Amino acid sequence: MRRPLVAGNWKMHGSRAGVAELIMGLRELALPADVEVAVFPPYVYLAKVVEELGRVAVGVGAQDCAIEPQQGALTGEIAACQLQDVGCSMVLVGHSERRLLLGESDDWVVRKFAAAQACSLTPVLCVGETLEQREAGKTLEVVGRQLAGVVDALGVEVFARAVVAYEPVWAIGTGLTASPEQAQEVHAAIRAQLADKSAEVASGVRILYGGSVKAANAAELFGMPDIDGGLVGGASLNADEFGAICRAAGN
Ligand code: PGA
Repeated sequence: MRRPLVAGNWKMHGSRAGVAELIMGLRELALPADVEVAVFPPYVYLAKVVEELGRVAVGVGAQDCAIEPQQGALTGEIAACQLQDVGCSMVLVGHSERRLLLGESDDWVVRKFAAAQACSLTPVLCVGETLEQREAGKTLEVVGRQLAGVVDALGVEVFARAVVAYEPVWAIGTGLTASPEQAQEVHAAIRAQLADKSAEVASGVRILYGGSVKAANAAELFGMPDIDGGLVGGASLNADEFGAICRAAGN
C-alpha cells in the first residue's frame, strides 16, 4: 500500500520569528504514524527547520533546486547536493508559480528532477492545468504532456523514487478546490500514463493533490482511490490546521 504523504509548501512566507513559532506548533502536534509529513520552507530557513524538526520525524524539503546537481558557478542558485548536505530529503520541481511566473520550461523541470535524484533527494514533480486549459477541455492533455516530459527524458523507472503532485493552477491560493471527482479523474489518468510503461511503478508512486487543501476538505479528497495525500500551501502555515490535514490522510 502507498503510505500517504502530506507536504507543506511554505512558499515565500516566513520570518525568523514566524518560522520559530511554526516549528513550535509543529513539534506539539500529534501526527499520525501511518502518514509521512514533510515541510518545504524557504531556503534561508532550511537548516534551522531541519535542526528543529529532525527529532519529530517531519521531513524537510526545498521548493526548488538548480539544474546542475553539484555546486559550481551559478550565482543565486542552490544545488541539489547542497540541499542534501543541509539535511533535506525532498525537493519540489516544476511548481506552477515557477513555470508560469518565472518561465521555467519543461526542459528545466526535467534537469532539476534529474539533479535531485542524482543527489538522493526525492523530487516532487508538480503538474497542473490553468483555468483556460481546463475550460478548453485540455486538462488531461496538458498534465499528460508535463508528465511525459520527464518520462520520455529519464524513463518511467525514475518514478520509483519520486512523487507527483497534481495542482490545478486555478485552485492554488484561490480558495477554489477541485472536487474529489475532478481530482480523482486526473490522478487516475496520471497513474494510467505511468502504467502504460510500468504497472509496478504506477501502483507504487504517490500522487498528491494540491490547490486550496484545508482541514475542511482534506478527508474527502484523500478518500479518493488515487489521491495519496496533499501538497498544502496556505493551510500549512498554521500548525493546527496542517496537523488536522495530516490526520485526515491517516488510516
Ligand atoms: P494552496 O497552495 O494550498 O495555498 O492553494 C498549494 C501549492 O501551491 O502548493
